[in-house]
Amino acid sequence: MTNIYKPEIVTIEEIIDETIDTKTFRLKFKDPEVAKNFSFKAGQFGEYTAFGAGESTFCIASSPTRPDYIECSFKTAGKVTGELRELNVGDEMGFRGPYGNTFPLDEWKGKSIVFIAGGIGLAPVRCVIWNVLDTRENFKDVTIVYGARSVGDLCYKRELEEWAARADVKLVTTVDPGGETPDWKGSVGFVPTIVGETAPSADNAVAVICGPPIMIKFTLPVLEKLGFSDEVVYTTLENRMKCGFGKCGRCNIGHVYVCKDGPVFTAAQIKELPAEF
Ligand code: FES
Repeated sequence: MTNIYKPEIVTIEEIIDETIDTKTFRLKFKDPEVAKNFSFKAGQFGEYTAFGAGESTFCIASSPTRPDYIECSFKTAGKVTGELRELNVGDEMGFRGPYGNTFPLDEWKGKSIVFIAGGIGLAPVRCVIWNVLDTRENFKDVTIVYGARSVGDLCYKRELEEWAARADVKLVTTVDPGGETPDWKGSVGFVPTIVGETAPSADNAVAVICGPPIMIKFTLPVLEKLGFSDEVVYTTLENRMKCGFGKCGRCNIGHVYVCKDGPVFTAAQIKELPAEF
């Protein structure tokens, strides 16, 4: 019988230092057959193994429209990520997945998409952004509001430049007051405020939001005021997972298993979750 906990071996093809404590790995399956048969959709996540240290859960940060590799971004925050951080290009690690539900991109065809992210929360949103931009003809306006505590905390700087240069994307970057540098050309202010100032139209639009809970908490009322109903605001929860597929019971919030029922939820669904969350 196949061991459902057994990871596939992936090789690190590229490492990008996003910030002082956040890295992006580009990974390729070692076994060409596995690579050929692997597929995923925007929003899904994986379990990443540092051999000898354990597994950690991250979203797949690359887009399914770029099937030759998968990418993950992680902040060093414990034993596993500490070990992963020490790996180099050419080293091997493990990957299990994909797991979880997906962002309903097919339902969003013909709509405008507003992406809102804070810090490392851009990782799962980036997957959707590239998916949307690689199939740009399917969508109306694309707005991205991305913020971090400081200029040094902004992830995916190369891609931010790429998006800023596109005529078919409206990108607003911001840093918290005091986080700017003398040459910073973006906005200064907290993400909820900047979303309000950017005022994306809610007409035939959906919003995708991911970031620190406090950012989400204060952005939701702003979106509501702009006319976005809770049913068209999507977010992803990726904390508290271990097995990834409904076995360990570690990720549940009330009767909801984040790994199976999520990690993608609408704001309406999140408001139904027990108050412990
Ligand atoms: S992560 Fe194990 S049940 Fe959800």
